[in-house]
Amino acid sequence: MYISEILVSKEEIKEICRCLGKQITADYQGKEIVLICVLKGATVFLADLMREIEVPCEIDFMSVSSYTGTKSSGDVKIIKDLDDTIEDKHVILIEDIIDSGLTLSHLVEMLKNRKPASLKICACFDKPDRRRADVDVDYIGKQIPDKFIVGYGLDYNGQYRNLPDVCVLSEYDREEIDG
Ligand code: IMP
Ligand code: MG
Repeated sequence: MYISEILVSKEEIKEICRCLGKQITADYQGKEIVLICVLKGATVFLADLMREIEVPCEIDFMSVSSYTGTKSSGDVKIIKDLDDTIEDKHVILIEDIIDSGLTLSHLVEMLKNRKPASLKICACFDKPDRRRADVDVDYIGKQIPDKFIVGYGLDYNGQYRNLPDVCVLSEYDREEIDG
């Protein structure tokens, strides 16, 4: 297992956040929003993105598990729920990366049932080649190829989240991750 290359540099990530923040600010003029961060991967992205948003916003956190070990079970279990209700609020779900989309599609259904005024999705990275569930993502930072990445909040077995750049992890056991 080793870090083979930098796929997205910290400078590029900064630009991505600036750009997304601008779009969100423009789209939500005169409104207040709640940013829901999906733990743990999206924490670094949330911290950067929220500082690029210039409309009033609150944050809340949710932790779900859709993986047993590194295998995707396609089933979402709430490990930590939101602190507050989202009823009648404008909500943006903040994700680190969308891979199969299974986690997200379950999460979206769950949150829609709580009757928010609106619900949009913002993902820092997207791997469209691996999509298995149909999800509408409103804001995407960058589309990336089908490679396993770490850094900028993203982990492999809990490690590498602290890398400031997004790097490709090589020689990982794809079987172990895909199931
Ligand atoms: P999905 O349900 O397959 O879309 O799973 C998305 C989740 O899997 C993300 O929120 C990440 O936590 C994790 N994930 C997917 N791809 C990667 C990757 O390349 N590196 C690290 N984590 C990943
Ligand atoms: Mg995640």
